[in-house]
Amino acid sequence: MGLRNTLIVMALLLSGAASLKSHAFFNETGELPCHFPNTQNLSLDELVIFWQDQNKLVLYELFKGQEKPNNVHPKYIGRTSFDQDSWTLRLHNVQIKDTGSYQCFIHHRRSQGLVSIHQMSSDLIVLANFSQPEIRLIANQTEKSNIINLTCSSTQGYPEPQKMYVRLNTKNSTSNYDAVLKKSQNNITELYNVSISVSFPIPPETNVTIFCVLQLEPTEIILSPPYNIDAKSPVPSPPVPDHILWIAALLVVFIVCGTVFVILRKRKTKQPGPSNECEIIKVEGKESEQTEKSLVGCRLWGRTESDTTEAT
Ligand SMILES: *[C@@H]1O[C@H](CO)[C@@H](O)[C@H](O)[C@H]1NC(C)=O
Ligand SMILES: *[C@@H]1O[C@H](CO)[C@@H](O)[C@H](O)[C@H]1NC(C)=O
Ligand SMILES: *[C@@H]1O[C@H](CO)[C@@H](O)[C@H](O)[C@H]1NC(C)=O
Ligand SMILES: *[C@@H]1O[C@H](CO)[C@@H](O)[C@H](O)[C@H]1NC(C)=O
Ligand SMILES: *[C@@H]1O[C@H](CO)[C@@H](O)[C@H](O)[C@H]1NC(C)=O
Ligand SMILES: *[C@@H]1O[C@H](CO)[C@@H](O)[C@H](O)[C@H]1NC(C)=O
Ligand SMILES: *[C@@H]1O[C@H](CO)[C@@H](O)[C@H](O)[C@H]1NC(C)=O
Ligand SMILES: *[C@@H]1O[C@H](CO)[C@@H](O)[C@H](O)[C@H]1NC(C)=O
Ligand SMILES: *[C@@H]1O[C@H](CO)[C@@H](O)[C@H](O)[C@H]1NC(C)=O
Repeated sequence: MGLRNTLIVMALLLSGAASLKSHAFFNETGELPCHFPNTQNLSLDELVIFWQDQNKLVLYELFKGQEKPNNVHPKYIGRTSFDQDSWTLRLHNVQIKDTGSYQCFIHHRRSQGLVSIHQMSSDLIVLANFSQPEIRLIANQTEKSNIINLTCSSTQGYPEPQKMYVRLNTKNSTSNYDAVLKKSQNNITELYNVSISVSFPIPPETNVTIFCVLQLEPTEIILSPPYNIDAKSPVPSPPVPDHILWIAALLVVFIVCGTVFVILRKRKTKQPGPSNECEIIKVEGKESEQTEKSLVGCRLWGRTESDTTEAT
């Protein structure tokens, strides 16, 4: 039992060691570690160091401290640099095709020949960040109906995302609209462009905010900038029944007549002369500049009254 457990632990340790992962971004520099402890403080002169890819193609070789390009595969020439302090090989201008497993070997030159003293595998994982998703409205669909029709797209990413969907937020609700992910892959760079087309209803009476969500992994998303659609202005409000309009008109007429009647009665009791309120104000403020202001006030008052009468 104890032996079996030990074996399982060892297997886990070995598999863990074998799958050391290193991430790199497309078109940038990746690191292929060797993790050589160099406990004997060997100098580079005594060593032969090289890296191989999973197809046994040589990326880099250091022989007696000198770079040896003879064995290096053409596709790696000029793309590597060796960091002596960390025993790491840097691979420049990383492509999606560089994804894979790499091995580092260190041999010690002894009298009896080369002796392997260290070896390590690592997996290079190449990623490319998708661009921020962009919402594009398919025009003139909104004017007529409350159905909105849009596309959302994001470009030049890797690996393939899980899904893309639209999130509709109103003041009090959130709804998601899924769609089939359309993807196209560049046959040289292997990067993906993705997009969706979605149609869905929007509530016309509230402001809505639309986001496009690109789901890369279960917990990793990229959001588009928000797309806001304001509530429709209440121009095409339901028509008011005719009889209500008539009642309103009658009410207004009644009020106006009543007001005029009251004013006329006041004047009769005050002054025999044919004066009105505007003139009275004018006389009072004669010397100062206030005259003009008062007159303006009077005119405005007059205008609003005539406007309301017209409106009826
Ligand atoms: C790779 O990076 C260089 C600059 O470092 C840039 O000019 C080039 O456009 C990039 N290529 C791609 C395919 O992104
Ligand atoms: C390792 O060797 C170098 C010379 O090859 C020496 O300068 C250095 O001090 C040595 N380091 C240790 C920790 O022994
Ligand atoms: C990609 O995105 C990650 C996380 O958002 C960020 O840390 C990284 O710098 C980005 N890389 C590039 C090359 O844009
Ligand atoms: C929508 O706009 C396109 C041009 O952008 C036009 O050809 C088409 O007739 C319009 N459709 C409607 C229903 O207005
Ligand atoms: C949305 O736009 C697409 C592409 O223009 C069109 O095929 C589809 O019929 C439209 N859907 C609706 C509901 O208008
Ligand atoms: C949420 O808003 C909708 C209209 O936008 C409304 O019909 C509904 O009653 C609201 N619900 C709550 C709980 O406020
Ligand atoms: C992906 O999008 C980029 C940028 O919009 C474009 O240049 C490229 O042609 C597209 N590639 C594919 C395979 O659709
Ligand atoms: C890549 O695709 C283009 C068309 O999209 C084609 O003309 C070209 O031959 C393809 N290249 C390779 C290497 O398959
Ligand atoms: C919608 O948003 C506008 C500003 O963008 C605001 O003036 C208006 O009051 C909002 N309407 C509702 C119904 O929330």
